[in-house]
Amino acid sequence: MSATSSITVDGKQVELPVKKGTIGPDVVDIGKLYAKTGAFTFDPGFTSTASCESKITYIDGDEGVLLYRGYPIEQLAEKGDFLETCYLMLFGELPTEAQKADFDYRVTRHTMVHDQMNRFFSGFRRDAHPMAVMVACVGALSAFYHDSTDISDEQQRMIASIRMIAKMPTLAAMAYKYSIGQPFVYPKNELDYTSNFLRMCFAVPCEEFQVNPVFSKALDRIFILHADHEQNASTSTVRLAGSSGANPFACIAAGIACLWGPAHGGANEAALKMLMEIGTPDRVDAYVAKAKDKSDPFRLMGFGHRVYKNYDPRARLMQATTHAVLKELGKQDDPLLEVAVKLEEIALKDEYFIEKKLYPNIDFYSGITLKAMGFPTDMFTVLFAVARTVGWIAQWAEMIEDPSQKIGRPRQLYIGPDRREYVSLEQRG
Ligand code: SDX
Repeated sequence: MSATSSITVDGKQVELPVKKGTIGPDVVDIGKLYAKTGAFTFDPGFTSTASCESKITYIDGDEGVLLYRGYPIEQLAEKGDFLETCYLMLFGELPTEAQKADFDYRVTRHTMVHDQMNRFFSGFRRDAHPMAVMVACVGALSAFYHDSTDISDEQQRMIASIRMIAKMPTLAAMAYKYSIGQPFVYPKNELDYTSNFLRMCFAVPCEEFQVNPVFSKALDRIFILHADHEQNASTSTVRLAGSSGANPFACIAAGIACLWGPAHGGANEAALKMLMEIGTPDRVDAYVAKAKDKSDPFRLMGFGHRVYKNYDPRARLMQATTHAVLKELGKQDDPLLEVAVKLEEIALKDEYFIEKKLYPNIDFYSGITLKAMGFPTDMFTVLFAVARTVGWIAQWAEMIEDPSQKIGRPRQLYIGPDRREYVSLEQRG
């Protein structure tokens, strides 16, 4: 006997089915509510609204749990690599050795972009924000790869998925190189995913480039931590864009645009700028006071989360990665880390943060690590986008393959003027 929930609207009582997932909260299926009661539900920000069924990622915000296809993020980050996580996201199971080798081979051989794309970059100012460049260039991929834009073709969907995962690092590195006036560096097939990316970012034609294995391992872990996160704002953007039948490149470009916001993926750049502005541990108290002041719009960037009301498990793993990178650089006493540790210590003891369940999220430590590795702050969200591409594309594919899928089209509560008659210009006074 399936559970139901009853709701009465204007005296009309209706029974609505309750659906249960594998784990996590039940959902009340309100699909028939409007037809039966003439009323909509109202939930701006979707704080209590499930937009879809998904098998990809599960978050328990109270317990600070994150599972990719059922596997704890801590185990995947500790024992696997990013392309293994990509395979898991796309196919739902961890790959065998043969499957992993084949997947790595296929991704590696799609890392080059059409050489005509190089010309796009010369149209940008050198100081253009690299996220602006990424939105433009990723959307433009659909101008080149017509053989993987038919979303009804499973084969084309898979080619587009592989191409997106493979080409994002190349485009990200090109955006960085362009911003510093250095020549683009082509990918090298003998390198692993993150080593290839680091070389495309930091190699110069004048000398051989040796990838630091501590950095490539750290970046691989950072990519795993950022790969997917249920129906966050940018993933929901990709799903909504995809629900109209738009091609995958255009949908990912929409996701990149949404991720750019400082309340979302832009928080890693904003968090580092905040730590730099605070500067020294003795100034932390004043900033915590600002964050608590309702009349001050300032928020502690890298703190708080819609779902996590406990420590973001990714933040803990991020913190460990930060220490590994700083140790490699002999910078264990990095002043930014000192400020971050002090800020976290004070905030976690403060009644305001405890009562509102505000904890460090993944963006709190990532910026310190990326800065130490040599990335400028405006590249931080680009790296987030590189990692999240697999989550976006896996969620997009899941939506396309969902037999109940239809175009997303929310309703509204209209609070504008009632019908009124047009007044001619002369009569408007
Ligand atoms: C990401 O959704 C995802 O999964 C996202 C993400 C992913 O992997 O895709 O995890 C990535 O986006 C992480 C979040 C990065 N953003 C930041 O670090 C920006 C700073 N944090 C916030 O702006 C905020 O916490 C959000 C946007 C992350 C969550 O906002 P909510 O859930 O809408 O909560 P809210 O804005 O309603 O805040 C609840 C209360 C408010 O106070 P009251 O109005 O109830 O008195 O907490 C306060 C807020 O003022 N608050 C903060 C705060 N975050 C919330 N106060 C100070 N500093 C903060 N950082």
